[in-house]
Parts: sequence; structure tokens; C-alpha cells
Amino acid sequence: MSGPPAGPHASSGPPAGAPEPAGMRTRYCGALRAEDVGATVTVCGWVARRREHGEHLAFLDVRDHTGLVQCVVDGAHALRSEYVVRVTGTVRLRPEGTANEGLATGEVELGECAVETLNPAEPPPFVLDARGDVDESVRLRYRYLDLRTERMQRNLRLRATVNSAIRRAMERQGFCEVETPLLWTPTPEGAREFAVPSRLQRGAFYVLPQSPQIAKQLTMVGGLDRYYQIARCLRDEDLRADRQFEFTQLDLEASFVGEREVRGFVSEAVAEATEAATGVRPTDFPVITWADAIERYGSDKPDLRFAMEIVDVAPALVGTGFNAFRAPAVRAIVVPGGGDLARARLDGLVERAKGLGAKGLVWMRVVPASGDGGEPGALGIESPVGKFLAPEERAGIVRAVGAAAGDLVLVVADERRRACEVLGQLRLDVGRPPVAEGPYRFVWVVDFPLFDGVDEEGRPVAAHHPFTMPHPDDLERFESEPLSVRAQSYDLVLNGWELGSGSIRIHRADVQEKVFAALGISAEEADARFGFLTGAFRYGAPPHGGFAFGVDRLTAILAGEENIREVIAFPKTQSGADLMTGAPKALAPRQLAELGIRIVGP
Ligand code: AMO
Ligand code: AMP
Repeated sequence: MSGPPAGPHASSGPPAGAPEPAGMRTRYCGALRAEDVGATVTVCGWVARRREHGEHLAFLDVRDHTGLVQCVVDGAHALRSEYVVRVTGTVRLRPEGTANEGLATGEVELGECAVETLNPAEPPPFVLDARGDVDESVRLRYRYLDLRTERMQRNLRLRATVNSAIRRAMERQGFCEVETPLLWTPTPEGAREFAVPSRLQRGAFYVLPQSPQIAKQLTMVGGLDRYYQIARCLRDEDLRADRQFEFTQLDLEASFVGEREVRGFVSEAVAEATEAATGVRPTDFPVITWADAIERYGSDKPDLRFAMEIVDVAPALVGTGFNAFRAPAVRAIVVPGGGDLARARLDGLVERAKGLGAKGLVWMRVVPASGDGGEPGALGIESPVGKFLAPEERAGIVRAVGAAAGDLVLVVADERRRACEVLGQLRLDVGRPPVAEGPYRFVWVVDFPLFDGVDEEGRPVAAHHPFTMPHPDDLERFESEPLSVRAQSYDLVLNGWELGSGSIRIHRADVQEKVFAALGISAEEADARFGFLTGAFRYGAPPHGGFAFGVDRLTAILAGEENIREVIAFPKTQSGADLMTGAPKALAPRQLAELGIRIVGP
């Protein structure tokens, strides 16, 4: 019997090189092929679908993690969807013309089947092979059922493949896996922390690590030389598509190396993981400075899958009479073929630009020049502000951005950084391909500033974390112009997602204390919070540096998923709830009393 690819595993098969099963079955469902015709086999799995064929014949699709196989069953059976069954039958070719090309096992079926029910099942709350969208809250509430779907099976197995490739690459490069504590002390990574009350020391708390940052630096002081860990990190921050409370990093640290070597270690690990996941090893890891990334893409995580780079058009506007363009900077992008965007969409872009903090946005449709006397191929513009610009200014802008007829030019005049960032966002809004669309374009962003602006009290804020070594050439400006000091830090970006970040660390107590002071952390506070670290630096800390990248993020991109929840077995919702277990929940009064905790308020 043929039909549409039925069941969640329509096209999969067993993982390459997977061993044959043991125990209650002799074969996996998804592994059966025409070569097996004549063999008597036993498979185990779940009833994916049941179709009646007359009174005494039924077709059962039986599914396991490798795929599904059609079983022809005589006689009446009380078998329903998701019943757990053990089926023994003989592999035979499906009748002429009924093969199912959409299914790896589609040429064959199991005939003369004996079916044993291992466990009956309630009707599932959603259809597991639904092609359409199932409400995510239902999927999360019954995550154990959702995990049976092809999508989740594929994503979790992809994640395992990524993890195993990362381990391989790290071990090949001489890194030693070290497990660091979860019951820890604050680690300043910029997010709020989860605290765990101590029972034995009432009123005292452990803090769950935002990352193993401090512990891994201490392994360097401890002479481990090259440390890595596939580490769980915990941050109490607002959840988004690329953020969960708990997530996993490939975390690494190495001694006696510089930025270049650290980037090399990381590139090797992500290349190995990408190759394991996709079959293609990325070889191109370009490096761009932070300043260039802002200038050309208006972002410190540029998506290099498409061009639309930001262009300085100020030279075409020297002494312009158009007031809006008399600004410290005038920048533009060109949207190829964007000339046919509807007026409403263009108005939407203007509003979007204003929402992002721009004073306005000028759009120009590039058209063939009208009227006589123009050179062949000459271009003109259609724009609400065209009349305010001199003909040379209009032509100069079009030339500077390299636009062609049919394109759209977007111009923002403002402070340089704002003009670039607004255009950088519009570039993404208009041009960014979906996550699932390759190719994979990695890029290293280097030379970040050490400080990222100032707080309400005018103190510099660490752009990365306070253990990052300042750029040696900028040290003399540390006190006079802190915001101009570059850091020896670097981010790895993939298709516009920040995959990870790292830096060369401060390994000297005096430099570390200077940075704490610049951040407004008093000597006493620094000593109370991080005295164990600066203390360690006094006992011969080697120069060291490291990195961490998000395994959830890398896997999501490789799986073509927009949200990291899709590559996490048991994730939290946006509001931090686990819909399956009901966590977080109240504790029993006895447990609270033991911890010395009284709940105040609701
Ligand atoms: P950072 O804070 O940049 O650096 O984190 C590194 C990477 O971890 C991932 N990540 C997250 N993924 C999912 N949910 C989250 N809430 C979340 N937060 C971070 C991102 C991010 O790029 N200790 C430093 C690294 C170092 O300097 O070695 C650190 O943790 O992919
Ligand atoms: P206004 O002079 O404010 O009426 O603006 C005239 C046109 O220029 C409108 O289309 C504005 O969106 C645009 N505009 C105003 N200020 C800027 C700016 N700083 N950068 C780009 N366009 C601007």
C-alpha cells in the first residue's frame, strides 16, 4: 500500500554505522530495505498510523528512532496510535506500483505479522506527524511526546553530533576536560545570577555560574595548560530566541598563547562540528575589526551572507543645501532591486529608522535618467527629497553606493555610530535571509573596545568581562581616555548570530586591580568578591586567554532553527516556566524552614 510519507520519520534511516539492535528486537524499523526480502525480523516501536483495509486487514506504520516500516496485520487488533508494539514478520516487496518513494523503507513491508502489545497508550494530545504547526505550549507540556517527532529526533541527534565533534577537535588539540563547580560564587558576566541557599550556613548562598570564567582561569594558574569543558551556564536574564536561563558553552582556556592561537583552536572546533553536521568543512574564517564591522555593517555581529554594505556618501554632499544632510556623518545602503518596494513599505522603513533613534530616513528609487541630453545609461532618482538635492549630489550618492536602475538607496544623516547602526538594522530588516538558508559564513570580530560606554555615575562599563586584557598599545590612555582603549578580545559570529566571545586575560594582580578600580569596584569590594583570583595571580599566573561559544546557538543554526528551544531537550518558555514539570514551584514549609527562608509577599 502506498501513500503520503506517513509518520514523523518519513525520510530518515538509522544513523550511519549504527550497531544492530539487541534485546527484544532483531532490526530497526527504518533500516529495512529490498535486500532484506525474505528475512524474518522483529521490530519494536510505536504505532504511528493505522489504516484499515477491509474487515480483517490493517496496515500499521511502526516507528522507532530510525524511521518507520509498514506492517500488514491480519485479523482484528485493538491497536491505536502510540501503542508500544513488538512486531515479528517477514520482509517482502510491496506490490507493484505501491512503493513509497518518500520513505526510506518505502519499497518493502512486513507481512504475516504477529503483533504483541508491550504497552497501550492514551490518545496523544497532538498528532505527532502533523505537518502543520502544533501549539508550542502543547509541545512543551508533553515534551516527551514531542521528542518522538522527526524534527526533535533530528535536532537532538544533531546536537550530540556537534558535541562529539567538538570533543574530538579539542582533544586532538591537546585540551584536557575539567569539570568545574555549579555551586559557586558570583561571576561577573553581566546577567543576574541564580542563587542557591545553603542549609548548613544559614543566610549564605552559592551562586550558579554564569560561566566557568573564573574557575577556568584558575586551572591555568594550576598548570592545566589547555582546559576545555562542554559547560552548563546559568543566567537569570530575559529569555529570547537565542537565550535560555541555562545553556551550554564550549568553554576553553589556554596558557602561553595569544589571540591568534585561541582563534585557531576555536575555528578548528566549529569547523569540525560544522563538517560533522553538514558534511562540508568551513575553511574561511575572515577577521574584521570591531570598528570596521560597525562602519561597514552597523553591527558587531555582521551577517556576511549578503552584501548591502554601508557607504559613506558625505563626500557627495559637501556644502549641501539640504538641511537634513548637514550632519557629522551621512551614510547609505543600497537595496538591490528594492526600487519596487511599495510606498507603504518605504513609509514603514522611515518609521522603523525613527524608532531606532534616527531623525529620519531618506529613500531614493534609482531610475533611468529622464529627459534629453543625459548620457546613455545615466541614472536619476525618485525621492520625496529629490528636489532639495542638486543634480551632482543626487548623481554623487548613486555613484558612491554603486546603485543600478531598479535599486533603492536608503540614507541616514546623524552621528557616525548612530547612522551606521540604524542602517545596519535596516540592512537586516530588508536583506537578511532566514536562518535555515546557508551558506555558513563565520567571521571573527576583533579589537573590541575595553569599555562599552559609561553608567549613570559616569563609570566605564566593561564591554566583555573585567578579566579582559587591555590592548598593550592603548595602556597609556587607560586613565585619560578609557573609552578609546581597545581590548584583546574577539567574538566569533555566524550568519549574524554572536556565537561566542573570548579574550586574552589579565594575569597580573596589579593590572587586574587597576581594571577593577576603573570599573568603580573599590579595593575592599574587589578583595571581598575576587580576592581569591587576584590572590592566585600573585602565585605565578601564566599569561593565558580563552573563549566560549554557545553550543545551543551553533546547533540551532546548523539545524536551521530560529529558536534555541528547538535544540534543547527540555527548555523553558519565554516566562521561564517548565510547562512539563511545572517548575518553578513553591517549596514545602519544612524545606523552607530547614533553609531558614521565609517568603515575603506573594
Ligand atoms: P559570553 O557571555 O559572551 O562569554 O558567552 C559566550 C557565549 O555563550 C552563549 N550564551 C548564551 N546562549 C544561550 N542563552 C544564553 N542566555 C546565553 N548567554 C550566552 C552565546 C555567547 O556568545 N566567559 C566568557 C567567555 C570567555 O571570555 O572565555 C563568556 O561567557 O553564544
Ligand atoms: P524634515 O526636514 O525633518 O521634514 O525631513 C525631510 C526628509 O528628510 C524626511 O523624509 C525625513 O525622513 C528625512 N530626514 C530628516 N532628517 C534626516 C536624517 N538625519 N537622516 C536622513 N533623513 C532625514
